[in-house]
Amino acid sequence: MSINFTDIRAQFPILQQTENGQPLVYLDNGATSQKPQSVIDAITRYYTSENANVHRGVYGLSERATDLFEGARKKTRQFLNASATQEIIFTAGTTESINLVASSWGKQNLKPGDEVIITEMEHHSNIVPWQFLRDELGIILSILRINDLGEICLDDFKSMLSSKTKFVSIVHVSNALGTINPVKEMTALAHAVGAKVLIDGAQSVPHLAVDVQDIGCDFYAFSAHKMYGPTGIGVLFGKQALLEEMPPYQGGGDMIYSVTFEQTKFNVLPYKFEAGTPNISGAIGLGAAIDFVQSIGLAEIAEYEDGLLKYATEQLLTIDGLRIIGQAKHKGGVVSFAIEGVHPHDMATLMDQDGIALRASHHCAMPVMQKFKVPSTMRASFGVYNNLADIDCLVKAIQEAKEMLL
Ligand code: ALA
Repeated sequence: MSINFTDIRAQFPILQQTENGQPLVYLDNGATSQKPQSVIDAITRYYTSENANVHRGVYGLSERATDLFEGARKKTRQFLNASATQEIIFTAGTTESINLVASSWGKQNLKPGDEVIITEMEHHSNIVPWQFLRDELGIILSILRINDLGEICLDDFKSMLSSKTKFVSIVHVSNALGTINPVKEMTALAHAVGAKVLIDGAQSVPHLAVDVQDIGCDFYAFSAHKMYGPTGIGVLFGKQALLEEMPPYQGGGDMIYSVTFEQTKFNVLPYKFEAGTPNISGAIGLGAAIDFVQSIGLAEIAEYEDGLLKYATEQLLTIDGLRIIGQAKHKGGVVSFAIEGVHPHDMATLMDQDGIALRASHHCAMPVMQKFKVPSTMRASFGVYNNLADIDCLVKAIQEAKEMLL
């Protein structure tokens, strides 16, 4: 089946508008993606004609809202190829999903001297929760270093693993470098020493097919808003046997079976981890976002974005003094770069005048900046609606801005 990526772009109302008098060239998909009309419509429809709280009402409207909300969970299960809907917990996003596991699984299972391994390319959301545990429980937080291309080395990982290693928490696709990590191999190696594995999939689910049973990981976290869905909703996949054993993360409504002042009995999965009224419209929007990416096909998206990445890399390298940070063999659609003598923020500000949304930041991955000895980088990150013309615009604007700045 051939895909018409021009038609796909037309489904995003925001891409029809101008910024500073120029057509919007949106290249900050790593931060958040734009939303197609189908996602906007699903959320509008919910608030226009389907709004009620879920799981509580016996009236028709509440039942319909519940069906939509639980329908989104079913879609998510199928999207990740999890074995059961009980394994799909709705959270506020990747950050909350990781904090949930660190707090619930971590505090229940880790003791002083136990080791958690993360990589040097983690986002702050996969560093700080483990530092909290290190400081609170006296665990050891070990860092798998990356090479100058921005890759981990499996042999280094193997040599770090021991019976002390209880947990490994790794990013699937780096938001700062674009590196795609060999998460399946890493999961098998970690399991061989009895460690559990969490994968931060924030930058992978919109761009490549993810099958949690094939990867074999214990937990997988992602956010809807980087995948053409709304903000404030995300997912934690966890293997059912592990989730059953874990204590709740927060207390409140919906996560209980019964409450007296003496004792509370907790609800079954997945509700045990979903205290309070959930983000109903968010889940419905996430369901619509899953429909959107599946209507194109994740394999097709991956192939298309790989073409964008290759073209952008080639074109950016024609610019004198430009250095690409993150040159891993396996990369997703992210190009981070620095230009000799140019401050990334000055460049991004000039890009904005041309209607180009380009990120200049440490990308919430300060240790990556420290490794490559830069305060920040410029980053173009692609989505299904980007095209070669966007990249041509970027390269031309950088050339012009460089002349102004140098
Ligand atoms: N973590 C997001 C990014 O990479 C915000 O831009």
